[in-house]
Amino acid sequence: MQVPLFDLTRQYKKIKKDVLKNLDAVFTSGNVIMGSNVKMFEKEIANYLGVKYAISVANGSDALRLSVQALDITKGDYVITTPYTFFATASAVVLNQATPIFVDIEEDFYNIDLDQVEKVLQTHPMKKMIKGIIPVHLFGKTVDLERLEKIKNNYKIAVIEDCAQSIGSVWYYSNGKKKCSGTVGDLNTFSFFPTKNLGGYGDGGLVVTNDEKLADRVRKLRVHGAAKKYYHDEVGYNSRLDEVQAAILRIKLKNLDYYIERRIKKAQYYSKFFEEKGLDRYIAYPKYFNNRVHVYHQYVISVKNKEERDNLKKFLKENGIETGIYYPLGLHLQKCFENLGHKEGDFPITEKATRTTLALPMFPELTKYEQEYVVNKIKEFYTSL
Ligand SMILES: Cc1ncc(COP(=O)(O)O)c(C=O)c1O
Repeated sequence: MQVPLFDLTRQYKKIKKDVLKNLDAVFTSGNVIMGSNVKMFEKEIANYLGVKYAISVANGSDALRLSVQALDITKGDYVITTPYTFFATASAVVLNQATPIFVDIEEDFYNIDLDQVEKVLQTHPMKKMIKGIIPVHLFGKTVDLERLEKIKNNYKIAVIEDCAQSIGSVWYYSNGKKKCSGTVGDLNTFSFFPTKNLGGYGDGGLVVTNDEKLADRVRKLRVHGAAKKYYHDEVGYNSRLDEVQAAILRIKLKNLDYYIERRIKKAQYYSKFFEEKGLDRYIAYPKYFNNRVHVYHQYVISVKNKEERDNLKKFLKENGIETGIYYPLGLHLQKCFENLGHKEGDFPITEKATRTTLALPMFPELTKYEQEYVVNKIKEFYTSL
């Protein structure tokens, strides 16, 4: 039996008719750049997220890079972020000539540790030059948005939420209200890379905000800094969402809550099977969290050490099961960030996560039968030890 980590083809079978219909309409119109689908998609997704402005861009990496620039974060400025994320979170800072300050993650949750963020804001030697924070809602669960909002207001600091993995995830505030990831920061970014919970059939990204001026700035930056065609106020990029992707994303957005529901169900099955089979002795898996809705972009387990993780990965592969490692090396140890002067041991929780975590197959169309097979193989691995 073969179980993929992610499978786009199963979903396509279900939406094929609608996708082909929308694509035909795009091609027939001849309007393939910044047409009506891009405009409608921006309206629809702003509505879905409950924000005033949504500006589509070419990918999630550009969404971050343009956001940093729109906040005027540049040479001499510092930005706090996590070393346990996809590269683009930190490269967006460096591409704007600013410097990332990494802060370790919370054990088991894998998101940036907000206690340590506050400590850095109070005690870092360059604290006056810290202009922003980029938290990442990793694997599909939000950081504590209530706490983040307090930090943003208390320290008067810009926040860019990196929501590439977390569209639709929610945090419940202590007063009973709830907020979606992507609604607290000044500018918040999303990715529509095909494997994302809302994924296109190519690259795509989004910046959202409630601030009209920032929205205008990002809108300008995505077309070479020109508010009026051929008149450039500043140097920007060519970073537009394709009309073709927008036409597809509009269909998928309608199904997003259903896809999320399915992912949550799959996560609950995994956890139930692990418990029933007594595997909680060997592996840690995501527990259900009362104060947040986790949208399970990834279902990530962790084991004792690197050797065990790598052996388990190999065993599962031999049995037809694909798994992923997000991420094998902390950003503070990447060659391109050598100049920041970090060494092994600087961020122990991140480093432990890079050695011990493993992402299991997770997508809305994954079957219960496939999940049972995955869990049984994990059990087989541990009983053979
Ligand atoms: C946390 C995070 N940030 C940013 C990105 C960049 O998005 P894209 O691949 O669309 O450029 C990704 C995508 O993998 C991501 O997971």
